[in-house]
Amino acid sequence: MRILVIGSGGREHALVWKLHQSPLVETIYVAPGNGGIAQEGVNLVDIRADAITDLVKFAKDKSIDLVVPGPELPLTLGITDACREQGIACFGPDRFAAQLEGSKAFAKDLMLEAGVPTAKAAIVTSYADGCKVLEQSDYPVVLKADGLAQGKGVVICQDRSQAQATLHQMLEEQIFGAAGTRVLIEECLVGEEVSLLAVCSGEEVLLLPSAQDHKRAFDHDEGPNTGGMGAYSPAPILPSAEAEDVANQTIRPILKALVAKGHPFIGVLYAGLMMTATGPKVLEYNVRFGDPECQPLLMLFTSDLAKVMLCAVEGSLNKTDLEFSPGACVGVVIAKDGYPKSYSKGSPITGLDAVAKMPHTKVFHSGTGIQDNQIVSTGGRILCVTAEGADLQTARDAAYAALAKIEIPGSFYRKDIAAKGLAHVK
Ligand code: AMP
Ligand code: GLY
Repeated sequence: MRILVIGSGGREHALVWKLHQSPLVETIYVAPGNGGIAQEGVNLVDIRADAITDLVKFAKDKSIDLVVPGPELPLTLGITDACREQGIACFGPDRFAAQLEGSKAFAKDLMLEAGVPTAKAAIVTSYADGCKVLEQSDYPVVLKADGLAQGKGVVICQDRSQAQATLHQMLEEQIFGAAGTRVLIEECLVGEEVSLLAVCSGEEVLLLPSAQDHKRAFDHDEGPNTGGMGAYSPAPILPSAEAEDVANQTIRPILKALVAKGHPFIGVLYAGLMMTATGPKVLEYNVRFGDPECQPLLMLFTSDLAKVMLCAVEGSLNKTDLEFSPGACVGVVIAKDGYPKSYSKGSPITGLDAVAKMPHTKVFHSGTGIQDNQIVSTGGRILCVTAEGADLQTARDAAYAALAKIEIPGSFYRKDIAAKGLAHVK
């Protein structure tokens, strides 16, 4: 197989690393890739992840057998539809189904239609209507911009005046542009968050082990929201014995509804869940692997990823299985000081050779490039240092032991990745 992977983060590094292990795979191209991906024996292509026409033309010219989009943007822009028009297979939902992530209003409506447990919400398009809803709301209340807002579109408002000000920013000042022309005013749920991901094809579902992300920048869930500062799997709060039941409530009904609408979902469906006192409720859907959840999940993954993706595209997922190592895996992100706001680029990264010799450990690159034969930082999230172990404690110790060998001037990482998971075990 000739594969084109789209994206440039740690998730894409993990996808490339795992696909490379498949005996079915002959050549991998990555657009645009990063410094770590460049060292995996693949071909980097200088095309951006949102340049749909150029990506599809490249795939056609190179006789690509399977396109694997990593991030949500090419999916919401319709890369799957554009590939299909050219007869090229693409492991991802079509533009219609990708609205599950691209529009929170679409996702909320579909959840209600399909009977999926989720927070109650009102969808408003005018500031005046929104203010009326806020008069009747309990506090705190959650405001969400409808569209993609790079993880910044959700604000938990403690009281009515903060909620009104936030609503004003979204609808009147349009701080999120077109993504904020519709706003969800949502009940605030209480509980612990967990992610459940599944490879899906129509109504066929293969579940991955549960995972937990760490969205805030600093220890003890303090500081601003980020793309994710670390993840581990499995998450003891959602053991595998309960995962099928949770999927029956949160994943299968959505797949069924999309099949009924003539847009069967192909790809990875990610349910972001709040485990509340009254059961799991869906906070959001993503239509792709999470970053950094993908890194520990794929490290545990022992099946042939290329075969699984091919089966999903061909509608034959029932012919395959997902297998995972029995232990646990932890990934810790190193980020540049200032992330998620502004940060400098070009910091040298040392110690990677020492970590490369450590067993059951892999450094996935997020924002790196190569400058004068040296790996340097190019993004806010730089690396995800990932280690596998017989249990969560062993995996966590291994990840932090590897991290101690890496030096990047002016960087930081969280010291408490997987601490919540360990608290459940003890
Ligand atoms: P989302 O992009 O919808 O996942 O929201 C980002 C983050 O906001 C989630 O990971 C939660 O921490 C928080 N969040 C979203 N919706 C709610 C809600 N209804 N109640 C409480 N927290 C929420
Ligand atoms: N780690 C959360 C996400 O990928 O959206």
